[in-house]
Amino acid sequence: MCGIVGYVGPRSAQEFLLEGLRRLEYRGYDSAGTATLDQNYEFRILKSVGRISGLAAQIATHPCRAGIGIGHTRWATHGAATISNAHPHLGGDDQLVVVHNGVIENYAELKSRLQKKGYQFVSETDTEVVAHLIADCLKAHQRASRQGEAHEIETAIDSIKEAIGQLRGTYGLAIIFRQWPETIFAARLGSPLVVGIGDNEHFLASDASPLVGYTDRIVYLADHQVAVIQANSLEISHRDRGIIEHDVQELAIDSREVELNGFDHYMLKEIFEQPESLQNTLRGRLSEDDATAVLGGLNLTPHQLRRIKRIVLTACGTSWHSALVGEYLLEEIAQIPVEVEYASELRYRNPPMDENTLVFAITQSGETADTLAALREMKRKGHLTLAICNVVGSSIAQESGGGVYLHAGPEIGVASTKAYTSQCLALAMLALHFGRLRHLSYNAGRKMIEQMRQLPETVRQALKTNEVVSQIARKYHDCNNFLYLGRHFNFPTALEGALKLKEISYIHAEGYPAAEMKHGPIALVDRNTPSVFVMPKGFIYDKVMSNLEEIKARGGPVIAIAAEGDERIAEVADDVVYIPQIHEFLQPIVSIIPLQLLAYHIAVLRGCDVDKPRNLAKSVTVE
Ligand code: AGP
Repeated sequence: MCGIVGYVGPRSAQEFLLEGLRRLEYRGYDSAGTATLDQNYEFRILKSVGRISGLAAQIATHPCRAGIGIGHTRWATHGAATISNAHPHLGGDDQLVVVHNGVIENYAELKSRLQKKGYQFVSETDTEVVAHLIADCLKAHQRASRQGEAHEIETAIDSIKEAIGQLRGTYGLAIIFRQWPETIFAARLGSPLVVGIGDNEHFLASDASPLVGYTDRIVYLADHQVAVIQANSLEISHRDRGIIEHDVQELAIDSREVELNGFDHYMLKEIFEQPESLQNTLRGRLSEDDATAVLGGLNLTPHQLRRIKRIVLTACGTSWHSALVGEYLLEEIAQIPVEVEYASELRYRNPPMDENTLVFAITQSGETADTLAALREMKRKGHLTLAICNVVGSSIAQESGGGVYLHAGPEIGVASTKAYTSQCLALAMLALHFGRLRHLSYNAGRKMIEQMRQLPETVRQALKTNEVVSQIARKYHDCNNFLYLGRHFNFPTALEGALKLKEISYIHAEGYPAAEMKHGPIALVDRNTPSVFVMPKGFIYDKVMSNLEEIKARGGPVIAIAAEGDERIAEVADDVVYIPQIHEFLQPIVSIIPLQLLAYHIAVLRGCDVDKPRNLAKSVTVE
């Protein structure tokens, strides 16, 4: 969603802001802007609607050498994507500029209060309310301060703290005052901010990707913290308490990981990275000696884990699909009852859950607002809460009691691919771990480990389907409806395949358990509605074959994702993609590969912006 960057130091702020905003493009946005403070202490604000290239053109014609500035990519919430609604926003009598991520829920009441005091609004945004509110608090503080104090930086900090104390909702804020021209102020509640530490310079961003290549020393701000950032100093305090000793961490992202490296799109690059990302998820976590998965990050003793009687997996979107895979795996392998809950529903439901229920939040970004809120609600109720997460240091990683990091590397394409397969693998390891604490035998554990070790190579083989899949895409890319059908472990694969297609190609696609299709969706079947059957070999194969025949009998074209060596399928399906065989519990990780590729090729053929699909954002930080 929205992105924030900031810079203070000897470089040209504009250059870093532009590069940083480009790196944040993947989060999804519809307008962008920068503010720098020039040598005459005037704000130079540039804005554009649409792609960053528009802003880049403006920066090229209005360059500013200032060493301090903030920038923003906006994903519209309050008011359309227009220049006047784009950030940064001026506050008071142009005394300050603000950029903001998040949503201010009480903005309407604050706005009418400020309007009554004479503040003029030029946008429909909640952010402009924050800008004027800080200006108003500053005015009050300066009026009340003793001689000389009005110019001290504490006045600015106190004004910000007073203003944010009145906000309801979420915010990541970056602020520059004309009166303190060497300082960026930042504050967060529920919307991430990180500070990068350089040599006599500091960077600010809403996630770590803009900082890659500039610095590898990073500070993650926590909720209720306020940062005072100057070229040579960084001071962090708590909104209601004093100064906080901050922890400088190492940023372990290589600049190659955020580049395209010859691929046309990040999504394609990330699809092809899966043999390595899966290897990284596995690394150091399989123990042949104990025939189990070693998951130290759970921070729970075997005794505590044995007492767990039920697991709730909560997530959104693609991560929710991986949770469904996890449900099948944990119930089958570990024999633990599992429920999968949409985080957006769980946060407001009140399901009866006993003290032996463990709650797992599953999230690539670690910042999804609904997932974070569900986790907090479960934590508040006293449940053990853990997370499966990709982004180190993210809000959910910080707030959960422990969990499993995916180590899949940065995922930039809006459509999640490698994070999904790593989530499924992490859940398979979890099932093995829980299984081995209960009834799963040493031998069965060893066999699972053997299969898991083969997985990265099997996925590498599955990627060889790319050419066949691109031909199939050419045949069907004009269709306006698709069905995706699968059963058991591959029912979630059908859901995920359909989601991939609709989010990047804007084609209507529905995923169903294959047998459920005859209870309604079969009415959609016609010559122009292809059904994609996910049906690798397994105990349910014959049943899925019957479902396939039912579609064929009604004239619907069938694309089958089947196991190598399956000759029978070639006789009934219109098109077949053969994938390598692997044990059933790992099939979802292999069978999703051709579906990711199918969505990708169809989207490209339809001329869609694969990495930045319309209306979508990489991390959904609003409710
Ligand atoms: C994935 O392709 C989607 N863009 C989306 O459904 C995503 O999975 C969802 O928003 C959850 O994100 P998270 O994993 O970062 O929490």
